[in-house]
Amino acid sequence: TESLKTELLDLALEAAHRAGAFLQDGRPEDLGVAATKTSPIDVVTEMDLASEKLITGFLTDHRPDDGFLGEEGASVEGDSGVRWVIDPIDGTVNYLYGRPDWAVSIAAEHRGERVVGVVAAPPRGETCHAVLGRGAYLGERRLSCRPSPPLDQALIGTGFGYIAERRVAQAEVARTLVPRVRDIRRSGSAAIDLCDVAAGRLDGFYERGLNPWDLAAGDLIAREAGALTGGRPGQGPDGELTLAASPGVFEALQPLLEELGAWHD
Ligand code: IPD
Repeated sequence: TESLKTELLDLALEAAHRAGAFLQDGRPEDLGVAATKTSPIDVVTEMDLASEKLITGFLTDHRPDDGFLGEEGASVEGDSGVRWVIDPIDGTVNYLYGRPDWAVSIAAEHRGERVVGVVAAPPRGETCHAVLGRGAYLGERRLSCRPSPPLDQALIGTGFGYIAERRVAQAEVARTLVPRVRDIRRSGSAAIDLCDVAAGRLDGFYERGLNPWDLAAGDLIAREAGALTGGRPGQGPDGELTLAASPGVFEALQPLLEELGAWHD
């Protein structure tokens, strides 16, 4: 399986770069600013769909029997034991506004286990990747998460979902947390937040209600950089809560989020 992992990594990197270049070059300059015939949201949806098609098309050409799960609807069982989990634009609102924190996120699972993760963030000029058991990298640089500070000195990333009532509950949790930590960041891309934990640019990240495509690649990248990842006690990062942090911050943050009911609406 080591050679399979290498093959999957090479394909994921190539697919993410192609999609990233397509999205960056194809983004209309005036998106979200000038009034266009179609609404800016439609243009983003079109780019999202086209990016997913580009990625699934490229991967299918090389590995026709693999399965897919994509944010824009790709859902194929496959019978090779490999499934690709794809977010063609993570950070869609940033993309719409011309803010730099958006990324293409591609993960590969082998027999249900995540083995490869790639997050390409073209405006940052950065691509992070990880292979299970081989560490996490930003380009050529090996990543390791930041040594854990006490929670009151930790910089914590979070995010808000799209459902209004849930956002109220999430804001309530953040309100209680903000005086207890160094500060809070909300980048608008969970994939990038998880890479930032890996790169030591955040001490931790949590969000409730993420979808598998938002976190599949970033979770592996954070773990391979030495972060702990999980969710509610006893659950993994795919459950109601996604949490990734330097080990000491994870240990402090998990019970606090539990106390605050971070997964309740
Ligand atoms: C979103 C981003 C955002 C997070 C949302 C996600 P999308 O993904 O990751 O940071 O807060 O919960 O849905 O919609 O831009 O692919």
